[in-house]
This record gives sequence, C-alpha cells and structure tokens, in this order.
Amino acid sequence: MIYLTSDTHREIDIHKINPDEFKAGLQMNRDDYLIICGDFGCIWDGASGDRFWLNWLETLPWTTLFIDGNHENFDVLKSYPEEEWNGGKVHRIRENIYHLQRGEIFQLQGKTFFAFGGGYSHDRIYRTEHENWWTDEICNQKECQNAFNNLERVDWKVDYVLSHDVFASHPFSQRYPVSLEGYPEDAVELHGFLDEIEKKLEYQIWFHGHYHEDHVVWTPDQRPVVSLFDRVVELDQIKTDLQ
Ligand SMILES: [Fe+2]
Repeated sequence: MIYLTSDTHREIDIHKINPDEFKAGLQMNRDDYLIICGDFGCIWDGASGDRFWLNWLETLPWTTLFIDGNHENFDVLKSYPEEEWNGGKVHRIRENIYHLQRGEIFQLQGKTFFAFGGGYSHDRIYRTEHENWWTDEICNQKECQNAFNNLERVDWKVDYVLSHDVFASHPFSQRYPVSLEGYPEDAVELHGFLDEIEKKLEYQIWFHGHYHEDHVVWTPDQRPVVSLFDRVVELDQIKTDLQ
C-alpha cells in the first residue's frame, strides 16, 4: 500500500497521519509507504522537539518518506547520512523514515516516482536565515542537472511525480509573487524549472503540497495534478477516483 499526503508541519498538522485519524495506517507494515509531499517539519530544531516526533513516527508500522518543502531545517537535514535506497538518493533519518532527495527517481512497489522538493516561502521577510528560513528551499543548478540526468536515463517516463511547490503553468503558481532575490547565484527559478519537466515528462499523476488545499487540476493534455493537504489518499484509490 502507498498513501500520500502533504504538509504535516510537525505538531501543527501531523494529526492527520496519527492512526487515531488515519485508521488505514494500522493495516500497514514496513513495506508500505506513507509519502509526505514536503513541509514534513519534523527536521526543525535538530534537538528534543524533532526527537520526540521522530521517535513517535518510528513506532508506526509503515515507512515514512518525505520530500522537502520550505519548512524544513536544511542544515540539520543535510547532516543525516546519505544512502542509495530503492533506486535513488535519500537521507536516512530513522530505520523507517527517509528523505527523498531532489531529482531522484525511486522504485516503490513496482512504480516509479520522480521526487523534487523545495518551495518558495512567501513569508520569508518575517523569517531569519538558518533559524527558521533556508535558501536551500529553492533548487540549485546542480540539483536541476541531476534531475535532467536521471530523467534522461528513464527516457523521460515515470509513473508519478512528487513535488512540494507547483510548475509555472499551474494556476496556484500565481498565488504569491516569486523572485530569486536573496537566493544564491546558482539558484534556479523553481516554478519555471518544474514547468520544463512537466512539458517534457510522461507521467500518470503529479502530486504536490504547499498550498494547503485538497484540489485536482487537469493540465491541457488531461493529466491530473493533485494538491494534497488534509487528505491522506491511497494511490490505487485516487487512480480509480480520477478515472
Ligand atoms: Fe506548508
């Protein structure tokens, strides 16, 4: 079984994957996956707060996978060991918790998932760098090149896409003004980059988070783009629902 959701933000919104609410979770095991499309939030203080939530998540029966959003402590995240796992690079957080790195393609239960985290913080003027805001929230040239190389290897064909923010031609991308001001020189405009991918890639469903809405948008060539927030959706179920 594979379930997907987004934006758990540590204690703020993690209740949705608590088996008290997410009853299906009790039927899962370590070979089943719960994927969080960014703003996991449990890599935040690098100390007791994170430990509490990671300890709790470790007791749950499934394996938790997340891509990064714009509410992760990237300094702490990058300090976790890097491993090859199911075809792509991860940070191993715990025995059953992995961070799926940007531009990597993973094989999960016979399906391929292209992961590309990151997102713009529209409130960043109120946040402090390395305290509660990191420029790493936006991709750099190396990560984008890595994505292109990996997609080239699979002839630009995957089953699913996992991103936090959206591609430029998605209506949500217009919601907040974005600019690369204040990001490093090698930063790449994320919406535009994802748009390039979207135009070229063959995929079945694109999943994302960030906008705190449960919503489906269809691209002009009738591909579903699923925005996740409160819902924890089962992959096969959502495929059926979208048909
Ligand atoms: Fe969020």
